[in-house]
Amino acid sequence: MAKNVYYSDYLQLDKILNAQQTESGLAGDEAHDEMLFIIIHQAYELWFKQMKYEMQSIVDIMRKPTINDNSPDVFSVVHRLKRIATIWQLGIQQIDVLETMTPLDFLDFRDQLRPASGFQSFQFKMLEAMMGLKFEDRHGKAFYQSHLRKEHIDEIAKIEAQPSLIELLNGWLERIPFFDAPFYNDSTEVKFHPFWVDYKKAFASTLNENDESILKTFEQFFYTEGKLKGNRLSAKANRAALFILAYRDYPLLQIPFQLLDTLILIDELMSTWRARHISMVARMIGMRTGTGGSTGADYLSKSRDHHGVFNELSGLNTYLVQRKNLPELPIGLKERLGFS
Ligand code: HEM
Repeated sequence: MAKNVYYSDYLQLDKILNAQQTESGLAGDEAHDEMLFIIIHQAYELWFKQMKYEMQSIVDIMRKPTINDNSPDVFSVVHRLKRIATIWQLGIQQIDVLETMTPLDFLDFRDQLRPASGFQSFQFKMLEAMMGLKFEDRHGKAFYQSHLRKEHIDEIAKIEAQPSLIELLNGWLERIPFFDAPFYNDSTEVKFHPFWVDYKKAFASTLNENDESILKTFEQFFYTEGKLKGNRLSAKANRAALFILAYRDYPLLQIPFQLLDTLILIDELMSTWRARHISMVARMIGMRTGTGGSTGADYLSKSRDHHGVFNELSGLNTYLVQRKNLPELPIGLKERLGFS
């Protein structure tokens, strides 16, 4: 016989709906807006949990050594990344709800929260780590170590020790075989590879004399062996990514394009969330330090500037050229990509 599932049991609402204890209420003087403050944070934590769940499944797929560019696997990765992007859009809008609380309302209970802070959201930090942010690249390392519980630091470190999404993306891009035989004979050194000679020429023709330095960065990004210092993607991966961004109209490249484009979107949405969070913080507490004890808006601006993971991908758009100026591809490669 089928199990008789009951709505509130299934969702364990007895636990969730009894998990909002206001500090002001405990102190005997309930501040009305503290309930909203708790529920908003809990809603974020549930969404962080969902995003971590999606991200882990994406990392597991990308870890497979046999992942094929147009397989259902890559489609699942793209689909789940798009879900993460949609959740971030919701996360940005949720700030509007919290901002119905005025700074004066917040002052009624803010001091009772010290030293707790959203900074201690270990799920947020796990998500950053799954994407590829390492401890050594974090702004405010000493603050991090003194303000997170050891068990949370250890859990985040465990994630950092596993391959992250950006590392797996780098490997996937490096394996893309389009610049080698049988499509091109001459693939000895990238500077002399026929495709890259033509691409650089096409790109250089779009620049004016003030843009000369861009040509130098073109060479650094695409011709340097290995990775540039501080970069997460290698030159080889950059070449494959630029190729996908430029030739994305070919059927075989459409899903890989969506993969790159959605990662760029997630980076942009997280940066928008960080920026909205900063302006909300400035509005709520002005120049004061955070409840967690950081420099407040100053710390947050630095983390916004330094904690993006996929910004190298959006940077590649600097090097796109108009469709009509793209180098013609060898016929065999065109066939492989789906147009003959
Ligand atoms: C009245 C509303 C809020 C204020 C005034 C505020 C303030 C701050 C401040 C000052 C910091 C820096 C650390 C510190 O010194 O405490 C911080 C960090 C943080 N807050 Fe909030 N916050 C608010 C709401 C939220 C909400 C709703 C979330 C959602 C989970 C959140 C998530 C975070 C996260 C993840 C960080 C760390 C960000 C990073 O390291 O880049 N905050 N917050």
